[in-house]
Amino acid sequence: DWSMPNYIDEAVDRIREQVGDEEVLLGLSGGVDSSVAAALIHRAIGDQLTCVFVDHGLLRLNEAEQVMQTFVKNLGVRVIHIDATEQFMSQLAGVSDPEAKRKIIGKEFVEVFQSEAAKLKNARWLAQGTIYPDVIESAASKTGKAVAIKSHHNVGGLPDTLNMKLLEPLRELFKDEVRKLGVALGLPPEMVYRHPFPGPGLGVRILGEVKKEYADLLRRADAIFIEELRKTLDPVTGKNWYDQTSQAFAVFLPVKSVGVMGDGRTYDYVVALRAVETTDFMTADWAELPYNLLKRVSSRIINEVRGINRVTYDVSSKPPATIEWE
Ligand code: XMP
Repeated sequence: DWSMPNYIDEAVDRIREQVGDEEVLLGLSGGVDSSVAAALIHRAIGDQLTCVFVDHGLLRLNEAEQVMQTFVKNLGVRVIHIDATEQFMSQLAGVSDPEAKRKIIGKEFVEVFQSEAAKLKNARWLAQGTIYPDVIESAASKTGKAVAIKSHHNVGGLPDTLNMKLLEPLRELFKDEVRKLGVALGLPPEMVYRHPFPGPGLGVRILGEVKKEYADLLRRADAIFIEELRKTLDPVTGKNWYDQTSQAFAVFLPVKSVGVMGDGRTYDYVVALRAVETTDFMTADWAELPYNLLKRVSSRIINEVRGINRVTYDVSSKPPATIEWE
């Protein structure tokens, strides 16, 4: 007879049996799957688990603090937090091609993770938040080889070089089951029901060359958009607009346009808002957000984020546009 508490007990037993008294390493990204895997494995083996959280400087506003708060303070998980912002920014300097940026971020991520992993000499296991759809996807891929770290982190080849055994306790679960498990394990529902966020993070939401200055402006604009989406209810469904949309975010355009503020003229950057509704992320419709919501978001961004003086809304569907701008 299936129930969540029984499921957790069984999963915990399985992990203990598999791992014995050996140590486990897990790359925490802040995403749902790695977070739930960390919470579950920690429930099973406590301090035999060490998480490495690599902050590439392209996370959302306060995201690193939230991850540390949730895992270290609330759950008591051992997490090594590496702030690698400077390293990523210097590697990305002068690079504007989207795929080249993805490659650099993926490669840098592996290097930072690997050098931390090398310090944890006793870790025999590499844990990953692989879920059932990832297993299917990799089985269907041309090589037929299991993806090393989830493809959405764009960092393949990790366990090969680390020479560790793989621990993947979520392999049989679908996304909705992973979310329920996360909540049952004590993760905050806002974290577990968050929109998907790409592995390269804001790196593909800053068009062209990535700079820390741009990332700082984008983070603040994006946080205002998300806050207003969460606060505003759709009277038709009774749901807030964050839950009603599948993915929503701000995009930084490194283009300057003229504005007026008081008696003065401004010449500042542009932000585009993107919100879509989709079930499979292969096709998507732009969300028909209420005008008054867009108006509030626009005026808050322009008033609160000095350096941005124009906000636009993306009314392109996928296909032919993609969800992300890069
Ligand atoms: P597109 O832009 O292709 O996005 O319509 C479809 C979904 O995939 C996500 N996405 C990525 N996720 N690494 C990721 O982990 C990436 O490089 C990447 N590019 C796009 C996107 O956020 C959307 O959910």
